Amino acid sequence: MDNYEDRFLSPEEDIKDEVNTINLRPKILKDYIGQDKIKKKLEVSIKAAKMRKEHLDHIILAGPPGLGKTTMAGVIANEMGSNIIITSGPVLEKAGDLAAILTNLNTGDILFIDEIHRLNRSVEEILYSAMEDFQLDIMIGKGPTARSIRIDLKPFTLIGATTRLGLIAAPLRSRFGIILEMDFYPPEELQLVIERTCGLLGMNIEKDASFTLGKSSRGTPRIANRLLKRVRDVAQIKNKEIIDSDDVNETMKILEIDRYGLDQMDRKILDVIINNYNGGPVGIRAIASSLGIEPDSISEVYEPYLLQNSFIIRGPRGRMATEKAYNLLNIPFNPDVPSLWEDKNAKQDM
Ligand SMILES: Nc1ncnc2c1ncn2[C@@H]1O[C@H](COP(=O)(O)OP(=O)(O)O)[C@@H](O)[C@H]1O
Ligand SMILES: [Mg+2]
Repeated sequence: MDNYEDRFLSPEEDIKDEVNTINLRPKILKDYIGQDKIKKKLEVSIKAAKMRKEHLDHIILAGPPGLGKTTMAGVIANEMGSNIIITSGPVLEKAGDLAAILTNLNTGDILFIDEIHRLNRSVEEILYSAMEDFQLDIMIGKGPTARSIRIDLKPFTLIGATTRLGLIAAPLRSRFGIILEMDFYPPEELQLVIERTCGLLGMNIEKDASFTLGKSSRGTPRIANRLLKRVRDVAQIKNKEIIDSDDVNETMKILEIDRYGLDQMDRKILDVIINNYNGGPVGIRAIASSLGIEPDSISEVYEPYLLQNSFIIRGPRGRMATEKAYNLLNIPFNPDVPSLWEDKNAKQDM
């Protein structure tokens, strides 16, 4: 799936990409664009922790891929002057894997667990006492000779990142002092991200071009940076020194990205809901199987932006296409379609 690859490459790809060019990640809070409420909260917590000479409270960073969670974890470590140790939920297969990391932490270290909603149950359970009391209870041996030993840990800060806050069980969630939910970025902020990246890469871009690109970036800095590289290619072929709106528009046409920043897959999802399921309600699994993609990639990657921009709404019986979605696909909207609107104001809990 070209489009998916193009826009949502894995974090590993993203990192590879950056060592090949220049590290585009901001290092300090001041350089981190947008997310003002989150930055304010962090500023206070960081300052207070430093004054008390204590470790920072455990933090969750939640939000769709590419919004800057990993970047923010790095910024926090930098601002605290702490070491950061990076791992991820799926990598920690056994309790011992996590125990090995925890026992090696030094006072004030930051442990970053990406995709923390994907931790194994047995691994998650040893986090509870580690986070709360900085103690590790582990079982040694098996059967009648098994015994539990307790190991003291140095005070550390856990930063967990997740694309699915709702999948983090209450016992884990309640052990985080600070829960930060990231929002999609407005075009003006993405424009700043693009201009910053241009500066770092030694490129020039006109104001209206960076704004148009900002609008096409699906609210996501990672996508903004990625699209910028494609626009640069288009401009380069034309021997242009300064990127302008024509270059941006031409690139978006090639990539089939529309004025809302939606790509082919976004439009296919809306098309399936409208044409195969009469506008909905329809469950994620049904949509995913119609398109031959993973349900998780719909709920983690595509759906959040479609919801945020009111192309779909969510009710207890599934997703429904809105009038805006019908208009986008040039399909007449008939609000009398049975069952379509009765869920509109229902509890949004799916
Ligand atoms: N607030 C921001 N300001 C500037 N660049 C950002 C910002 N947030 C993210 N980026 C850029 O977007 C890319 C993706 O960010 P990342 O932290 O990897 O997202 P996530 O971990 O949420 O998937 C990074 O390469 C970074 O350069
Ligand atoms: Mg990340």
